[in-house]
Amino acid sequence: MLNTKTIRKSFPAIEAGRLISNNAASTQIPVQLLDLLNGLAAGYENVHRGQSQASISITEMFESSYDTIAQFIGAPSKKNIILYRNTTEAINSVMYSLMTEFKDGDNVVTTHMEHNSNFVPWYGMAKEILPKFGINVEYRLVKFDKETGVLDLEHMKSLVDNRTKIVCCTGASNFLGTKNPIKEVRKIADASGYEQPNGMKKSYFLLDGAQTVPNIYIDVKDLDVDFLAWSFHKMLAPFGVGALYAKEEILQSMRPFLYGGDMIADGSVYPHTLEYNELPWKFTAGTPNILGTILSAQALRLLMDFSLNPGQEVYFMTGKKLEPSEVEKAMDNIETHEKELAAEALELLSEIPLVEIYGPKDPADRTSLFSFNCPGINPYKLAEELNKCGVESRAGCHCASLAHRYYDMKPTIASCRLSFYVYNDLEDVRKACDAVKKCAGINS
Ligand SMILES: Cc1ncc(COP(=O)(O)O)c(C=O)c1O
Repeated sequence: MLNTKTIRKSFPAIEAGRLISNNAASTQIPVQLLDLLNGLAAGYENVHRGQSQASISITEMFESSYDTIAQFIGAPSKKNIILYRNTTEAINSVMYSLMTEFKDGDNVVTTHMEHNSNFVPWYGMAKEILPKFGINVEYRLVKFDKETGVLDLEHMKSLVDNRTKIVCCTGASNFLGTKNPIKEVRKIADASGYEQPNGMKKSYFLLDGAQTVPNIYIDVKDLDVDFLAWSFHKMLAPFGVGALYAKEEILQSMRPFLYGGDMIADGSVYPHTLEYNELPWKFTAGTPNILGTILSAQALRLLMDFSLNPGQEVYFMTGKKLEPSEVEKAMDNIETHEKELAAEALELLSEIPLVEIYGPKDPADRTSLFSFNCPGINPYKLAEELNKCGVESRAGCHCASLAHRYYDMKPTIASCRLSFYVYNDLEDVRKACDAVKKCAGINS
């Protein structure tokens, strides 16, 4: 288990007495990042846009943040990292960048367990945008097992063919908690034989890592994903920054998503031609979220320290390289911790008569989020009652609208969800689950 006693001291929200159990939406901000934000005020400046010492220093901090982010996911270099506002924008950027490469008759394969941000952009492209240009592209949805929450890989195989330009799949479901077999999905995308304009003969594979990167060790080279999108606000950083990893050869040939300043090579813009800036700046149009980027990278470093060196600052605000073996160790600790929380939550929630808990029954197969419905109680009402007991939950579709429809829930297409992170301990899980029992009319 992680040293939650020490970790918890860093979080003003926990110190204030809150039971933080809606972490799959967003995690809490630690005091170290708030102090860092204050500390940055004295050297506040823009990046790539000035010759002052302040501008030079902040540019160095900003650019080295990209190195930290690249190291955390095992990417070859900062050239592979593009920063946007969140996962949603990162996935949209892939859609808009690739859109002009789609040919009439191509398809996109995604799944019934996706967050809307990995379905709706493809829906929009296929139904609303490309038909206006006379190009018909289909999207296909892979099923999952309603009992186990497991993705149906045989169904995926049957949907992917030599017209599948991209397979888009989540690494972990934000509704079921299911951890998907990423390497198996890669193999299916590899086998399609789709001819990409850059010469690759396979479908691209976009991994939605919003619930994966914060909870599970991800090495993009080992997993061989073409695109990975995730958000830092789900792993201790403040709101506002999400990342897209992509293979360098794809980024070199791909059209930019946003056009404007800084994404072009300085001095290389003429009335009838221009040249793009080098990677990753080719995809960084306009003034970026500089403070957010620095804080996001330091959130990763802090997460490393929370896991490996609680109470010490070995990675936070040091230039120490994040070695893959160390990141793996740190994330394995986090995964083990979450597994213990998951085992406790599954056991306690299962004691509620007729409760329906969605997703895998084995804690090893899921992240530490739990969506459930209690018989006879509207999930929104349940969430309100939980709030009165001091337990923070989320009721609704959690933006996993397709999966909720898939269960044909009645009368309300919604569930209630609890989700835990590195600062939660077993006591938090017990308090939250006891409150669910109480609000569901069961005395614990
Ligand atoms: C699996 C998954 N994908 C995408 C997103 C969207 O993330 P964001 O709102 O940061 O764009 C979420 C957020 O909950 C998610 O859980």
